[in-house]
Amino acid sequence: MAGDKFASLIGSERPEATNIVIFGASGDLSKRKLLPALAHMHRWNLLGSHSRIIGVVRSKWTRSHWVNYVHDQLLHYFPEAVMNPPSWRRIADKLDLVVGDLTDPNMYQDLAKALHADGGKTNALYYLAIPPSWYEVVCKNLKDAGLSDESDGFRRIVVEKPFGMDLASAKDLNDKLQTYFDESQIYRIDHYLGKEAVQNLMVFRFANAVLEPLWNRNYIDHIQISVSESLGIGYRAGYYENSGAFRDMIQSHLMQVMALVAMEPPISLDANDVRDEKMKVLRSMREIKPEDVKDIAVRAQYAKGKVGDETVAAYRDEKNVADDSCTETFAAVKFYIDNWRWQGVPFVLRTGKRLPDRVSEICIRFKESPQKLFDLDHDNGRNNELIFRLQPDEGMQLTMTAKQPGLSTELRGVKLDASYGIVGSGMPEAYETLLHDVMLGEAGLFSRADEVEESWAIVAPIMDAWAKETDIATYPAGTLDILGMDALLDECEGGWRDLRLCDDY
Ligand code: BG6
Repeated sequence: MAGDKFASLIGSERPEATNIVIFGASGDLSKRKLLPALAHMHRWNLLGSHSRIIGVVRSKWTRSHWVNYVHDQLLHYFPEAVMNPPSWRRIADKLDLVVGDLTDPNMYQDLAKALHADGGKTNALYYLAIPPSWYEVVCKNLKDAGLSDESDGFRRIVVEKPFGMDLASAKDLNDKLQTYFDESQIYRIDHYLGKEAVQNLMVFRFANAVLEPLWNRNYIDHIQISVSESLGIGYRAGYYENSGAFRDMIQSHLMQVMALVAMEPPISLDANDVRDEKMKVLRSMREIKPEDVKDIAVRAQYAKGKVGDETVAAYRDEKNVADDSCTETFAAVKFYIDNWRWQGVPFVLRTGKRLPDRVSEICIRFKESPQKLFDLDHDNGRNNELIFRLQPDEGMQLTMTAKQPGLSTELRGVKLDASYGIVGSGMPEAYETLLHDVMLGEAGLFSRADEVEESWAIVAPIMDAWAKETDIATYPAGTLDILGMDALLDECEGGWRDLRLCDDY
């Protein structure tokens, strides 16, 4: 069912046997995300008996070294995969290895032999779990070795973010990839789109007729999209110093989620129909003028503080971070979508590291009821809210106001809760969903070249303005005490949602 991405939500379709080639197989992404996701797919019988996982590494490993490596990583990141010896043996049988330098054409000849080891049809998924500076050389060599040619099976290339650092570099990268592969063969991963709750957003919006009349400027006051993380940057200073929270999260994940919230119903679930609608949202976004940046965007960097019980260092004291770094670890921005449906409705996006808790959610805050018959305050639910919780405890919640049982007319907020913990189980990880989709040829959850370029163009004025700044406000780690954050919601009802974890979350 090519093109119908959402088939995978309803019944897990088994993809054709595929050679999953991981460039950068000994790296962090491979061990933390890809190998566990593939093992999980194997567990659900979604890999197919003839699929293989071919690691590409530079070190002179043997196949048995690779098998032991995969075993050890799974033991750490997905122990169930190796606990059952027969099941682990079936995974181990799928493992193959190609050793060599990414610049060496001979390595690609070895890869070609490995792909054709079984003879017959050879589907291949090339996962570039390597720094973007290597993308071009790998794509060129694949093409030169005849490994982008689809005459004996599909050839799909999966590209991780960051997809460029600005519009010019994203265009350059698109041009390079498209020199060697057709756009239909390129899958740009945004793992947020693989999250179960994000996919549910589409179903919830377009499978429930009751929502459509409310989903517009007449009833919605504003929309908040928040991704709060309690962790710091860990070992990723090299990447993060050049990226910062805005590029790392807002330009990619949060703007993609925003496009799904705001788009019109697509004419079908075909990947390009969905992406056309997302693209229309991006093209309707209000242009940001350099002089507006200070009013619509806020950034800050974490200082020393306490997250939970742990005292944590300031960003500038993290390993490999410059003493005078002005990289933001928190960013928030207010966008407007100037179309019929959303005119005047703020979309406020925020994200940060070293905040109090790990909480991600979309909050649709509705307008107040037009007549104030009851005495409502913020605590007992002045505005209805529809919350899509992305993590933790994925699910949806609708906040309503009800009468407190008793003789007086006391009001209380009630929550209609549809947590996935209750309505479903065995939720796939984002990477599993996305790998499964690539194998099926379902591109709906992957960004098209024009979407990526458009989103870079939208945010360019903010990045340009911040690049000129020589200082940055700080916030104590473990808090949301961020200068200027509240002002972004000045004209909105109800203020920011509390992102701390609470008992009923
Ligand atoms: C990545 C960012 O894309 O997403 C990280 O580079 C961030 O900085 C991560 O921590 C967050 O993903 P998740 O799924 O844990 O919310």
